[in-house]
Amino acid sequence: MPNPINSHLHETGLLVNAPKRLVTHVAGARPNFPKLGPVWRALSNRGIRQRLIHTGQHYDDALSASFFRDLALPTPDVNLGVGSGSHAVQTAATMVALESQLLDHTPDIVVVYGDINSTLAAAIVCAKMGIPLAHVEAGLRSFDDSMPEEINRRVTDLLSSLLLATSDDAVANLLAEGIPRERVSFVGNPMIDSLFHALPGLDAPRLPAGLAPDSPYAVVTLHRPANVDDPDSIAKAVAMVNALAAEVPVVMPLHPRGRERMRDGGLDRVRNLFTTNPMPYLQFLALVRGASLVVTDSGGIQEETTMLEIPCITVRPNTERPVTITHGTNRLATPEEVPTMAAQVLARTWLAPQLRPPLWDGAAGPRIAAAISEFIEK
Ligand code: UD1
Repeated sequence: MPNPINSHLHETGLLVNAPKRLVTHVAGARPNFPKLGPVWRALSNRGIRQRLIHTGQHYDDALSASFFRDLALPTPDVNLGVGSGSHAVQTAATMVALESQLLDHTPDIVVVYGDINSTLAAAIVCAKMGIPLAHVEAGLRSFDDSMPEEINRRVTDLLSSLLLATSDDAVANLLAEGIPRERVSFVGNPMIDSLFHALPGLDAPRLPAGLAPDSPYAVVTLHRPANVDDPDSIAKAVAMVNALAAEVPVVMPLHPRGRERMRDGGLDRVRNLFTTNPMPYLQFLALVRGASLVVTDSGGIQEETTMLEIPCITVRPNTERPVTITHGTNRLATPEEVPTMAAQVLARTWLAPQLRPPLWDGAAGPRIAAAISEFIEK
């Protein structure tokens, strides 16, 4: 909680040379970075002092540094260099390194993003140290505890003082779990701020050699443990890509998770498939904008395709982002259903939505900054 004595001195004008408030952001993996940018900029515009701690959960140029360049993010004040490991190893290493950072530079609030292991680790450390926590993307629920991200979301929300929700359903989930209303703020989606910021400057998609520039194509991304970790799932995923590629050329940037297993499972033998390395943010957005459809198990891509009005087939039994179905282009499918659904998209019998998710308007960053400022000035 903000220091009540300081608040009183501020209000009465007695604390003339008070140190400026400090907001510390903790981010660690690819999906965090497009959400961080707009919040950082909006807090900067308010003259608030900030620190950025990169946990190092993602460390490859393709998954981290290229995003910092494309999104013009500040260089992190520190990189904890946590790297890969089991969930316990990654979470524990983040907790140990982060605790000593927060002891050295104790902020007025820590801001965390999304549902990755770094987010969970920061939430636990802050709760134990009595540092208030703001969670950007609070309240998303797949109601599927087999997803590590679902555990991370629920624990992080339980420990947050300021819950910043991207959609109405997320607000409803939090209230249903007994989170007090006054802690929850519906602010919209900062990922969409980054998308709007990027769109005017996007180049034409850089298509892989061998794919004609005017050819329609599908984009596929798969990296969830449920789709790429065991041989059965891999076999289904490869069969799905094979059937899809019989309908339309497929461009597939391969995430390190599952890349070798999918190759061993026969991905390299699929015809009409163009695999690539993970792409930098702007290059990937350009690729998606030019696609006829996207097949994915990512969270953020469900949101980006909704705003770009590109049909999206999500290869999962559930989504924590139902607003992309009710107000967007997203549909859930089993791997076996994907080729038929893709054929419907290509035959143009798949209707574009008439709605847009509320507050996905490019101004979520300033709303989040306002909520954080109000919280730390209280
Ligand atoms: C993590 C997040 C997930 C998010 C995804 C986006 C959790 C629980 N999961 O999953 O929510 O959608 O990031 O990418 O936090 N690896 C590299 N280079 C890197 C990072 C990872 O090669 O820079 C490899 C590691 O060897 C590891 C695998 O990729 O085995 C998975 O990385 P990890 O961070 O454990 O989880 P992700 O699957 O990336």
